[in-house]
Amino acid sequence: MEKIVIDGGVALQGTLRASGAKNAALPILIATLLAPGEHRLTNVPALTDTGSTLSLLGRIGCPSLVGRDSIRVDTSRIAFSEAPYDVVRKMRASVLVLGPLLARCGEAKVSLPGGCAIGTRPIDQHLKGLEALGCEFELSGGYVYGRAPDLRGADFTFDVVTVTGTENVVMAAVLARGTSVLRNAAREPEVVDLCNFLVSLGARIEGIGTDTLVIEGVPRLWAASRPYKILPDRIETGTYLCAAAVTGGDVTVENTDPTLLGAVLDVLRDAGCEVTTGEDWIRCRRSGPLRPFTFTTQPHPGFPTDMQAQLMTVACLANGESHIEETIFENRFMHAAELRRMGAVIDHCSSKATITGQPGLTGAAVMASDLRASAALVLAGLAADGLTEVLRIYHLDRGYENLVGKLRGVGARIGRVGDEVRDEEVMRRSLLVEVGLA
Ligand code: EPZ
Repeated sequence: MEKIVIDGGVALQGTLRASGAKNAALPILIATLLAPGEHRLTNVPALTDTGSTLSLLGRIGCPSLVGRDSIRVDTSRIAFSEAPYDVVRKMRASVLVLGPLLARCGEAKVSLPGGCAIGTRPIDQHLKGLEALGCEFELSGGYVYGRAPDLRGADFTFDVVTVTGTENVVMAAVLARGTSVLRNAAREPEVVDLCNFLVSLGARIEGIGTDTLVIEGVPRLWAASRPYKILPDRIETGTYLCAAAVTGGDVTVENTDPTLLGAVLDVLRDAGCEVTTGEDWIRCRRSGPLRPFTFTTQPHPGFPTDMQAQLMTVACLANGESHIEETIFENRFMHAAELRRMGAVIDHCSSKATITGQPGLTGAAVMASDLRASAALVLAGLAADGLTEVLRIYHLDRGYENLVGKLRGVGARIGRVGDEVRDEEVMRRSLLVEVGLA
């Protein structure tokens, strides 16, 4: 099992480029099922989740070609309207094929995604919204069997703000007969990007970016003539800005969009960072002490839950007591236990955490539990004295393209190694040699 090794304590300096947004690329790749033809997408991040999505499309009968600068997907024919368990269990976002398959083929068989480390992650709102459009579902043997004999527009209000729930229902509504009004819809930038992509295929959607989407169904959609560029990844961007904050460095993230993460920039400024922005770049510098801060995660445009773990690491080094409240997922503090092993002082219940900042952290072997928790542990390793090993880094590969390369590019002493157990000193020396740090 691969792991990441970090020799911490270096103030990061320099510039790196954000990749395309994972949480926009996945729904947009799946949305190509709605329009027969050859689609071209650019700025698609090279992640394991991207690969999983392309292999799912392949199993449905839609081959893809990954080029240097773009990905082509041919959705002319659909052979199977199914997302099997072995794919869905690896990537929950596979459940997004429900809407498109029901809209295009009138039927779908999709494995129920299990819960995951951060919560039970139900899909009741997905099914409720699709049922409002006339879909019928039967749950059996861990699968959802769906039929859409007559997809028609509806006025539907989500009980909770759900990103992929909104996306699933939007992708069915665009081909429904008549008009749909979707209320209490998610407004995340990735939902906006999906809607913009659907409009490029000929969909008719009003209210994009608001919590009320008005969709006039059309008989069919067509592959766009021009390539579609995926929007920048705001969570990856925010993660690298936090790397500057925790190491007392000066990092500029290019190929990004400052308007996508205003709430995160506000908290970084509260923490004592100097944050400056341009049209497609953000610079974060921290020279003085980190100040404690408080935030509560909320649906967009509030503070994003996907940045909570990373800011908890920043709070571990602040001069005082910070307070974090997690309102989106019921179990998203698992990084706290691992941070404590590095010397952090964190006290939390299921939704609220109090972090008492310390002068520093100490390197240790720590275990990643989910995608963003892994990122928080890498940030802690960058700031810590001594060696940190982050295990189970397959979580990271799902959402961070070339993380080691990008961090090395701004001075981090970091590498990926295989997994041999050796005595402490030999391990330390050989690890540093193997990752080119000694
Ligand atoms: C999306 O997950 C993202 N994933 C998550 O990013 C992100 O954390 C989350 O939105 C919140 O922003 C993708 O876009 C692929 P939700 P999603 O449905 O859509 C409850 C990452 O790290 N809910 O918005 O699955 C749910 O339990 C990942 O990149 C229902 O009750 O999240 C949660 O409490 C992690 N019923 C809340 O809504 C439903 O039918 C928000 O979940 C659906 C959701």
